[in-house]
Amino acid sequence: MQMMRAAFYEEHGGTDKIRVDEIARPEIARDEVLIRVKAASLNGFDPMILEGSTDLKTPLPMIPLGDFAGEIHEVGSSVRRWNIGDRVCPFPFIASQGMMGETRTGAAAEYVAVPAVNLIRMPETVTYEQAACLPIAYGTALRMMYDRANVKPGDRVLILGATGGVGVCALELGKSAGCEIIACGSSDWKLNKLKALGADHVIDTSKEDFEEAVHERFGKPSFFGGGGVDVVIIYIGGDTWVKSLRCLTKNGRLLTCGATAGFSPEEDIRYIWSFELNVIGSNGWLPPDQVRLLDMVADGRLTPQIHAIRPLEETASSLQQLIDRDVFGKIVITP
Ligand SMILES: NC(=O)c1ccc[n+]([C@@H]2O[C@H](COP(=O)([O-])OP(=O)(O)OC[C@H]3O[C@@H](n4cnc5c(N)ncnc54)[C@H](OP(=O)(O)O)[C@@H]3O)[C@@H](O)[C@H]2O)c1
Repeated sequence: MQMMRAAFYEEHGGTDKIRVDEIARPEIARDEVLIRVKAASLNGFDPMILEGSTDLKTPLPMIPLGDFAGEIHEVGSSVRRWNIGDRVCPFPFIASQGMMGETRTGAAAEYVAVPAVNLIRMPETVTYEQAACLPIAYGTALRMMYDRANVKPGDRVLILGATGGVGVCALELGKSAGCEIIACGSSDWKLNKLKALGADHVIDTSKEDFEEAVHERFGKPSFFGGGGVDVVIIYIGGDTWVKSLRCLTKNGRLLTCGATAGFSPEEDIRYIWSFELNVIGSNGWLPPDQVRLLDMVADGRLTPQIHAIRPLEETASSLQQLIDRDVFGKIVITP
């Protein structure tokens, strides 16, 4: 049996449950390829899956991380069009198994087996580290901003948690679309980075109430129009939900793709009818979105925000840093 190094956990809990050790290297089926992982990145859902706090059925032992890029190392006997050495950034949702890092083992390992149908070729100029940032967080942000929120030039867009993976990408895409961006973050050093990335206004949520800050700067929304913001991007949930409704101008759009701080928040539906608000869900992305993102990085329209590049041994400490909200953008692991 061939072996490989991987980060994995055998029971749910905190980051102390993660260890790095030798485990069996996956064997590939006829329609799969074996990929030598060059880079993988952390996402906001990784700590939730580790804790076991979602309804998803996670196989144990579990190798975390769904986003990755690498080089094809071995090709299954029925696979056509793909060769050893090809650079790929696979779509990490595997048919009948689900998302890598959630219900299917992930990429914090030297090798990963995936069906050839999931492969996406990387443009020459995109690095493995850049590509590994793109699928889950950037894919979700692309679909949410362009397909679901349908942002247009001049839209005033409030992004809560703009410092995370989905958030930084939403900021970059919003700026490219000509929006006015109000970005929220929880510390000075993060706010400086948000400004450097092009945010027109920033709100420090550790010092200011974001709802009051929006009303102060843009006026309180009026039934007759005016005041507030056109779009709120919110994946935090919890006590930010009703406050977000109260930031929206008449006919505004609230976009949600997650609930980091709680999925069953207090509701106040009066705002939804009184201001004729649109509450819009956004879930995941599709392979063409991932191709589009790779092309955007290749021609310089998008720059993945990499907080740090770390070895496999630092997977647990990096996840802890994410839990501690001490990350801007993405942490990349290079197994
Ligand atoms: N439905 C989908 O398809 C989909 C896809 C991707 C992600 N998601 C969801 O979207 C959310 C964000 O994902 P991500 O990968 O961007 O996460 P991330 O990189 O960890 O970013 C989350 C950001 O939220 C902010 N935040 C505010 N309140 C928080 C709290 N109570 N706890 C933790 N963070 C808080 C933090 O910024 P500050 O500290 O600066 O406030 C942090 O930077 C997650 O809930 C994830 O599950 C959903």
